[in-house]
Amino acid sequence: MSHILVTGGAGFIGANFVIDWLRQEGAAGIVNVDKLTYAGNRKSLAALEGDVRHVFLQADICDTAAVTALLEAYRPRAVLHFAAESHVDRSIVSPGDFVQTNVVGTFRLLETVLEYWQALDAPARAAFRFLHVSTDEVFGSLAPADPPFTEVSRYLPNSPYSASKAASDHMVRAYHHTYGLPVLTTNCSNNYGPLQFPEKLIPLMITNAMVGKPLPVYGDGLHVRDWLYVGDHCAALREVLASGQPGATYNIGGLNEKTNLEVVQALCDLLDEVSPKTAGSYRNQITFVKDRPGHDRRYAVDAGKLARELGWKPSETFESGLRKTVQWYMQNAEWVQDVLSGNYRNWVGKQYVA
Ligand code: NAD
Ligand code: DAU
Repeated sequence: MSHILVTGGAGFIGANFVIDWLRQEGAAGIVNVDKLTYAGNRKSLAALEGDVRHVFLQADICDTAAVTALLEAYRPRAVLHFAAESHVDRSIVSPGDFVQTNVVGTFRLLETVLEYWQALDAPARAAFRFLHVSTDEVFGSLAPADPPFTEVSRYLPNSPYSASKAASDHMVRAYHHTYGLPVLTTNCSNNYGPLQFPEKLIPLMITNAMVGKPLPVYGDGLHVRDWLYVGDHCAALREVLASGQPGATYNIGGLNEKTNLEVVQALCDLLDEVSPKTAGSYRNQITFVKDRPGHDRRYAVDAGKLARELGWKPSETFESGLRKTVQWYMQNAEWVQDVLSGNYRNWVGKQYVA
């Protein structure tokens, strides 16, 4: 029972989690199951090539036989479920993919894990955990003066993405309530950091800025997100896995509300400092484009429960995290290039038509 099983560990947060986990002294091995959709990237895990503590299998979480075989072979003491379709804009164009992976996939995974868990001996059953990695978007949109989301905020998802994640949260909850599966659910705010696919706001803006492309801000740019450095999210997940109460949910947030325009301007100013253009500021590349349909105006997360009960708080400020992120993208031009030459290019072509 020394391994943990991770789904979606070739994606942005999953890969950061796997890498950070294996940096810990005496870390349990990781079995990593990822379908390698457009968002999955084996190169993100290149540093782990040859590391016997990391076992990678390309498989769909809907493939019950493949996941069962891994559970039987490695007997993990926990499953951390990151695998999902995660981009809101794509969910507007292709909602069916989101239902398939986020809803059906989570259901199939729960079925498979439940069968494995029920056959464990009593001590192993008591120690086992299923940690479901979810989002603050399930709570919908806040008005400017509303208090931040708490664990008891009402579910009011607005996009096909957030609705599919909400459905998966409900299934996870039901498997605890009905079958006793020891689940933990986390609802986190917007992550940023190394290895993020450049379809999401921050890496898109960095990669566009560096090649002189427009920086497309949706609508008036005054939508608010709460930004958390990915390493802080991964640290929170380790805390919840180690000490969370089975059946409980935990909000994870950066205490860091910013409008999109503030984020993009901060990025431009940082780039002006670390990689100045021959003439003018990166701010000149900002362009306002058509808004996202149904665009949620504001997210904000109250992570007080996690701080009070498990002692977690973010270690990066937005300024330090953004600096690390910009440096990472500048120092990893090959990773960026590899992504840009793939499916990403088609996506940009379709999304940002004039
Ligand atoms: P991502 O899109 O970067 O990665 C998703 C990974 O899941 C990819 O490697 C992909 O290949 C894999 N995957 C997709 N469908 C699969 C399937 N059917 N079977 C197996 N693997 C599959 O996503 P991310 O940003 O790393 O998000 C990870 C999780 O965290 C998601 O569940 C997301 O909802 C949640 N989350 C993300 C954020 C954020 O800001 N990115 C914030 C809060 C919560
Ligand atoms: O809140 C957590 C969620 O954060 C996660 O669950 C999602 O998986 C993750 O993708 C993210 O969702 P958002 O929709 O908030 O992230 P995104 O990076 O797509 O957009 C951030 C904000 O920036 C949002 O208000 C839309 C805006 N935006 C985005 C893009 C891609 C732009 O203005 N221009 C853009 O080109």
